[in-house]
Amino acid sequence: MANHSTIMSLTCVILIFFLIISLFSTNLMFSHASPGDYHLERIEEGLARARSTIREAARARNYTSYTEGSFLPRGVVYKNPYSLYQSHKEMEKRFKIFTYKEGEPPLFHRGPMNNIYSIEGQMIEELNAGDDDKSSFITQNPNEALAFFVPVSITSIIRYVYRPYTSYSRERMQNVVADYIRVISERYPYWNTSSGADHFLISCHDWAPDVSSAHPELFKHFIRVLCNANVSEGFRPSRDVSLPEILIPWGTLGPPMINLTPRNRRVLAFFAGGPHGEVRKSLFDHWKDKDKSVQVFGYLPKDQNYTVLMGQSKYCLCPSGWEVASPRLLESIYTGCVPVIVSDNYTLPFSDVLDWSKFSVHIPVAKIPEIKKILEGISTTRYLMLHKRVLQVRPHFVINRPSKPFDAIHMILHSIWLRRLNIKLGHHVM
Ligand SMILES: *[C@@H]1O[C@H](CO)[C@@H](O)[C@H](O)[C@H]1NC(C)=O
Ligand SMILES: *[C@@H]1O[C@H](CO)[C@@H](O)[C@H](O)[C@H]1NC(C)=O
Ligand SMILES: *[C@@H]1O[C@H](CO)[C@@H](O)[C@H](O)[C@H]1NC(C)=O
Ligand SMILES: *[C@@H]1O[C@H](CO)[C@@H](O)[C@H](O)[C@H]1NC(C)=O
Ligand SMILES: *[C@@H]1O[C@H](CO)[C@@H](O)[C@H](O)[C@H]1NC(C)=O
Repeated sequence: MANHSTIMSLTCVILIFFLIISLFSTNLMFSHASPGDYHLERIEEGLARARSTIREAARARNYTSYTEGSFLPRGVVYKNPYSLYQSHKEMEKRFKIFTYKEGEPPLFHRGPMNNIYSIEGQMIEELNAGDDDKSSFITQNPNEALAFFVPVSITSIIRYVYRPYTSYSRERMQNVVADYIRVISERYPYWNTSSGADHFLISCHDWAPDVSSAHPELFKHFIRVLCNANVSEGFRPSRDVSLPEILIPWGTLGPPMINLTPRNRRVLAFFAGGPHGEVRKSLFDHWKDKDKSVQVFGYLPKDQNYTVLMGQSKYCLCPSGWEVASPRLLESIYTGCVPVIVSDNYTLPFSDVLDWSKFSVHIPVAKIPEIKKILEGISTTRYLMLHKRVLQVRPHFVINRPSKPFDAIHMILHSIWLRRLNIKLGHHVM
């Protein structure tokens, strides 16, 4: 009996001890005595200041912190040019990303640098601190990071783990990524602190959206940066980021550019490509080899130059294929051809800050039979305006290495920065 009550009172003492400890540590948090908490506090203060200057720029409709010689977004192609300018500036000043070091190439730290999924490899390279030209957004100190990069290449997983294909089950891909997150969430405090809300991965592969479907709880707050930004497949426009798909030829950083004037564009609409998926099937059924002004081809014969044909057209059709995104979107912009987005449920890249309706045409899949009527219905004045604005937004879709303010890489990082700030610039009054 005596023993029993001794144990009881001992338990009581231990409980009270832990209660005091936990009160004490709560207290510590409020008095910023712990270095970890101090970092968090300082980061949140910086973000709050950034939010307030962005709101102020939008309110005053002024490039408040303009510095001589910097790129100035102007005009209706921007949802709010003032807040974009300010937000980009704040990003350059404050956005620091920590890339986890765990994992080995080829599945981690390296992705495709060319061809259709190459934006994935380009971004992974940008965010992997090399010794030479390392990005100014990278930090080696995770305590000062505002965001954390999970450097996995989904395209490499498909290439190295799945080939030769014996199964299309997404399970192996999902396990590689979930295991990685498990490792970093045990080794570092950062994942648990935010439940992954300041963590992201970047992938252009069609399968990438499925990365989270087996573990929805794990990815609930996570930022997925995806080319396949299909809203009806679970893409969340306010949390995920739409990544532009860019077909990068070998030895270059992007498709060729062409600058033919509108007068030299004799074809109303152009498309060439494989018969992938339902949207293309409908396009081919209605327009392949049917009309002189709406020129729809399968794969082009060898003696025809795809880029040149786009450059000779007013409008370039960009229908979804196996996935919602198409590299034609950027190829159109590069060749000064007004993109005609033939897709449903596709969240366009940079649509937080760019108003796509000002430099492209959207035709829902159900209206494919009306393509000619819709495009012929656009007045010459409006077409000339659309064409001019395509050239105006072009710098935002160009890859530079090292990356430059307002180019494609900066714009992608800016989309992630906005998620981190949790501000949708477009919602501000113009
Ligand atoms: C706009 O910002 C500039 C500084 O870049 C400042 O000199 C000017 O007074 C501001 N104008 C308004 C209307 O706030
Ligand atoms: C984060 O949480 C998980 C699950 O609760 C736990 O296993 C892991 O040890 C935690 N990580 C750290 C660094 O405490
Ligand atoms: C997808 O697009 C179709 C056709 O435009 C539309 O009816 C549907 O509501 C969209 N679904 C979502 C989730 O946006
Ligand atoms: C097609 O034309 C573009 C632009 O003139 C050029 O850069 C490219 O090399 C050509 N491609 C082929 C396969 O000839
Ligand atoms: C988008 O997702 C929906 C739902 O899974 C699917 O039916 C549709 O085919 C997808 N779109 C494309 C172009 O893959």
